[in-house]
Amino acid sequence: MEGKSLVIFFSWAGNTRTVARLIQKETGGDLFELLPVKAYPRRYSKCTEQGKREFQSSVLPELQGLPSELSSYDTVFVGTPNWWSTMAPPVLSFLAKSDLAGKRIVPFCTYGGGQGESAVRAWLGRIG
Ligand SMILES: Cc1cc2nc3c(=O)[nH]c(=O)nc-3n(C[C@H](O)[C@H](O)[C@H](O)COP(=O)(O)O)c2cc1C
Repeated sequence: MEGKSLVIFFSWAGNTRTVARLIQKETGGDLFELLPVKAYPRRYSKCTEQGKREFQSSVLPELQGLPSELSSYDTVFVGTPNWWSTMAPPVLSFLAKSDLAGKRIVPFCTYGGGQGESAVRAWLGRIG
């Protein structure tokens, strides 16, 4: 791949992390995991409740950190699990706080039930 690439992602249960690592291996870019300051509950039902609450009230959770040299990347792969047919809130926090103008953005998502397409549509609405 031409230029420098970054694979940035949030993962709650590991699937998106696995895909992010595969992309990073293929592209030879850097890898950055978005970690919320307050971790999501480990129990699935609790996590889905919190995710829904945050999504419905447009909460942007605080992140432990952001990549320091974002401007140096030409391509940014951005990965999220599909949460409630859209992006997980930590990814929204990243998008809200980062200037990605002029970069090639490659969104990817993992999902559990076949609604991945709507997550990608939501993506395109946000970053397109
Ligand atoms: C809060 C929450 C909401 C979810 N909402 C959806 C959904 O709307 N559609 C879907 O197909 N999968 C949904 N899932 C399943 C995840 O998208 C799927 O398991 C994903 O691969 C998890 O990625 P991760 O292992 O990187 O966290 C949801 C999971 C969680 C925890």
